[in-house]
Amino acid sequence: MIGPIILGNKTFASNLIQGPMAGYSCWPMRLLAQQWGQPAFCYTEMLSAKNLATHREIEPRFRVKDPNEGTLCVQLSGSNPDELSRATERVIGFGADLIDLNCGCPVDKIRKKGAGSKLLEQPTLLAQLVKAMKLATSATDIPISIKIRVDGDQTVQYSKTAALRAQDAGVNFIAIHGRHWTEDYDVPCRQDQIAEIVSALTIPVIASGDAQDTASTLQLLKNTGAAGVMIARAGVGQPWLFAKIRAEAAGEKFVVPDIHSIGQLFLQHAKDLVSLEGEKIAVLQCRKLIKYYARPLENNTPLLNHANLAERYDDLVSCVVNYFR
Ligand SMILES: Cc1cc2nc3c(=O)[nH]c(=O)nc-3n(C[C@H](O)[C@H](O)[C@H](O)COP(=O)(O)O)c2cc1C
Repeated sequence: MIGPIILGNKTFASNLIQGPMAGYSCWPMRLLAQQWGQPAFCYTEMLSAKNLATHREIEPRFRVKDPNEGTLCVQLSGSNPDELSRATERVIGFGADLIDLNCGCPVDKIRKKGAGSKLLEQPTLLAQLVKAMKLATSATDIPISIKIRVDGDQTVQYSKTAALRAQDAGVNFIAIHGRHWTEDYDVPCRQDQIAEIVSALTIPVIASGDAQDTASTLQLLKNTGAAGVMIARAGVGQPWLFAKIRAEAAGEKFVVPDIHSIGQLFLQHAKDLVSLEGEKIAVLQCRKLIKYYARPLENNTPLLNHANLAERYDDLVSCVVNYFR
């Protein structure tokens, strides 16, 4: 079940993918994932097609691809075909290897613009957006995808129709997060609803929701019939996870880095964020980020309290020296 996957006319050695995470999945995180876990590819954070299309200066965080980070899927957000087309052309210039349209974002500000999960209710517009992206990539071998959500307990059903319309319009694959956009993480991923959409489509589906180890990843593949699995939250702070799942699924043992090495990985992440965003912003982000690296600690409260006071990179170093041992 864990093995190669073909998306468009690109073949990947593995069907495990690092999902998009706004606030996290910029190049420092993606580089660690590729160095330690080799997912098929990583997603960027969601980028506004409008900002890209109007040729505003784009912050480095949203446009920089590290030369060593491997295959990159750039995720766009928008609801205007012309903007999507121009944004697609622009991110090809940033080094996009795949381009995705976000159709799952639950945030009010995005939905009000008709984008994110709102697109699921507008299949005709969705098809126009996909066609605009296809046209803008027609001279390349860049696969186009959408990332959607399921219908949950809602009486009006949109997701399958949206997926079918996007398939007809030419997407090469679809990623599906198995929750309705109104649902939080306390609702378990609705694997049956992903499976229903998988059965209706002929293109590959990447299933997303609650994959965090080998067992849950294999369950998600088996229960949905999806061609691949997206891992989002569990990839943060555990960049080796993709390699661990591949090894364990093949019956091999995988040795997880020890706590000292995990501390060093956090510092690499922090240092790269400082080079990307400057020390002040990076350290604020690291106050949140450190809890993902601190998963193996039995009691992480003293560390988190300490990290919450960090103002300089050196304060993060002292957190690591004191707690990751
Ligand atoms: C902090 C955070 C930010 C996210 N940002 C995005 C995003 O920008 N685009 C997107 O399509 N999904 C985003 N997601 C959803 C994830 O990609 C994924 O579908 C979801 O978390 C379920 O997978 P998981 O259980 O592996 O985390 C985000 C999730 C989290 C927790």
